[in-house]
Amino acid sequence: MKLLEINGGKKLTGTIRVSGAKNSAVALIPAAILSDEEVTICNVPDITDTEALCEILSFLGARVKRASETIVIDSKEIENKEIPATLAKKLRASYYFMGALLGKYKKVTMSLPGGCSIGARPINLHLKGFEALGAKVTNKDNCYIVEADELRGNNIYLDFASVGATINIMLAAVKAKGKTIIDNAAKEPEIVNVATLLNNMGAKIRGAGTSSIEIEGVDYLGKCFHEVIPDRIEAGTYVILGAAVGENLKVDNIIPEHIESLTSKLEEMGAFLDIGSDYIIVSRQDNYKSIHVKTQTYPGFPTDLQQPLTPLLTACKGQSKIEETIYENRFMHIPYLNSMGADIRVKNQTSTIVGPTKLTGCDVVATDLRAGASLVIAGLMAEGTTKITNVEHILRGYENIVEKLTNVGAKVEIREI
Ligand code: EPU
Repeated sequence: MKLLEINGGKKLTGTIRVSGAKNSAVALIPAAILSDEEVTICNVPDITDTEALCEILSFLGARVKRASETIVIDSKEIENKEIPATLAKKLRASYYFMGALLGKYKKVTMSLPGGCSIGARPINLHLKGFEALGAKVTNKDNCYIVEADELRGNNIYLDFASVGATINIMLAAVKAKGKTIIDNAAKEPEIVNVATLLNNMGAKIRGAGTSSIEIEGVDYLGKCFHEVIPDRIEAGTYVILGAAVGENLKVDNIIPEHIESLTSKLEEMGAFLDIGSDYIIVSRQDNYKSIHVKTQTYPGFPTDLQQPLTPLLTACKGQSKIEETIYENRFMHIPYLNSMGADIRVKNQTSTIVGPTKLTGCDVVATDLRAGASLVIAGLMAEGTTKITNVEHILRGYENIVEKLTNVGAKVEIREI
């Protein structure tokens, strides 16, 4: 087990370079097996979630070469084997092998995925989409068998604009016979990134990034080279950190439009942001005003940033509120922030943060990935030492976090315990 120790209260200055997007990379890696030729993906973050997917690729018999942030995947000799629970449960995104293997072989057998415990997180919309394409879904002992004699394009309306269901249905539909239309599709930038990879491989997908995606099935998908977009959640996390303890902290290699919902809220709070074409420079300001935030699907305020934003709101004067509308259980960081000196109550999926309060370091637990990010920001804002356990959650999503923070002047260290 690992422990992250932070000596807080330091001003952070310098540049943090943002890595490739976790939530894109984790879909692009499974998507690559749809190709009958070599697929090269660059700017892949070196995090445990991408490692776990490469393990699944190797288990299936794909040849995977990884050098620094580039992965070359050759799926010519893969075997459509059942993906065991031990591998599937390592992360949420293992479920993209459902769409990819179904699309390629018309059959897939695998257990339920893992991932952060932030709500029920059913996969009914994924399965309904597969069924609409003509597949039969059977569930035995939490293991799903999804199979079809033939996949046929169809019109699919998603009851909720789910990121995972939109991507999984695209993966299953790219080689189906005829046209598939996904309505009320998710519009996140990661969806566009996956559709671009598939189109580079020879797929015919239009409308990704809008709520209606049209997929004309093709027979063959080939070689391609593709780049993962910058991680908008990692970018947002460090911009929040800059507003909390930065002194001209530059968050570099980002697409600022992807985090407009965050930057406009920070400006409303009183933050001053220098927003360039691919960077944001931010410094801590005095006298932040309280704000109200409601999480929504893209381009709304991302649920993945509400936990990292919370410690910053302890520095605002008055009552800030965060309403979480995507997940039922994404407030597990709150008791730990309160133990550090915050004054936060949670009622009806809304946290009310009363500030300003002073944070003091103590022993806390990262219950999930973004709760962990929230505690890292709190630890860097706090006086004294914060010790975070369950750091494994944080390492699933933030590449080289210790090096990146150390380079801008933070006192952080990871130790085995
Ligand atoms: N939902 C259903 N049925 C489904 C699918 C989703 O009811 O079949 C519900 C979920 O329970 C949830 C909501 O719809 O309440 C949103 O789920 P969505 O499918 O959009 O999320 P996801 O694909 O499981 C991805 C990211 C999450 C991110 C969400 C929302 C990956 C691997 N995960 O999850 O990222 O919060 O989209 O943007 O891409 C994170 O990075 O910390 C993280 C949790």
